[in-house]
Amino acid sequence: MSHKLQQTQDMLAKHHRDGEAFVQLMKDTYTGRFNEDFWALWNTHIVPILSESPVILDLGTGPGTFLRDVHERHPEARAIGVECAEYMLEAASNLPEGCDIITADLHDPHLALADNSVDAVVASVVLHEMHQPVRTLQEMQRCLKPGGIFYIMDWVRAPLAQYLANSELAAFDRQTPENALEDLFIHFIEHNRFSIDDLAFMLENTGFCVLEKTLLKEGRMARLVAEKK
Ligand SMILES: C[S@@+](CC[C@H](N)C(=O)[O-])C[C@H]1O[C@@H](n2cnc3c(N)ncnc32)[C@H](O)[C@@H]1O
Repeated sequence: MSHKLQQTQDMLAKHHRDGEAFVQLMKDTYTGRFNEDFWALWNTHIVPILSESPVILDLGTGPGTFLRDVHERHPEARAIGVECAEYMLEAASNLPEGCDIITADLHDPHLALADNSVDAVVASVVLHEMHQPVRTLQEMQRCLKPGGIFYIMDWVRAPLAQYLANSELAAFDRQTPENALEDLFIHFIEHNRFSIDDLAFMLENTGFCVLEKTLLKEGRMARLVAEKK
């Protein structure tokens, strides 16, 4: 295994805290991210551009729940997840035929996919876990067909007060252990990496045209739909 991949896996293991519990959390909260609004947006922006045998990519697929879901809805599609955390890869094994996993570090992905061969890409709460998403955006620009759609949903910058209001930890209680405070504030930085405009700016600079951008969860989360030019 390369040193870089090991570094990414270590960083993710720290961010996810407990791998198995995080797998379960991703399964339990899946329908909150891929809810009615998501499928309405899917029907508006993505279904009309899907080819007869579409290729759909899910970046940071986690346990692969979206791959199973999208494959059920579009049995003619090839649904491919990209992932590198070992506990996620384990949870995403035994996927049905038509679903595949590519093990790769999204910090600098070189996916075995032809240029202009992918219909749609989904990146659900993954970019904030990365040191930089530029190489991923460039790789998606290479793989997507012209007119292909890139859907991004992620945590974006919000004030500390708002972040703490959604945390179970009593940050200002003198009894709160120092290591719990450190963990909380490291996660605050990690969840506050980009603003919605930063994400749009990076998309516009990597060959995409942003069609829609919306703030969700009182401004703590963003949803963007972009088209490859
Ligand atoms: C918060 S989880 C979201 C899982 C899934 N997309 C969902 O919404 O249910 C983020 C996932 O992205 C993966 N991930 C983060 N950084 C990555 C990287 N550099 N390379 C590959 N996968 C990465 C993590 O291992 C994790 O499974």
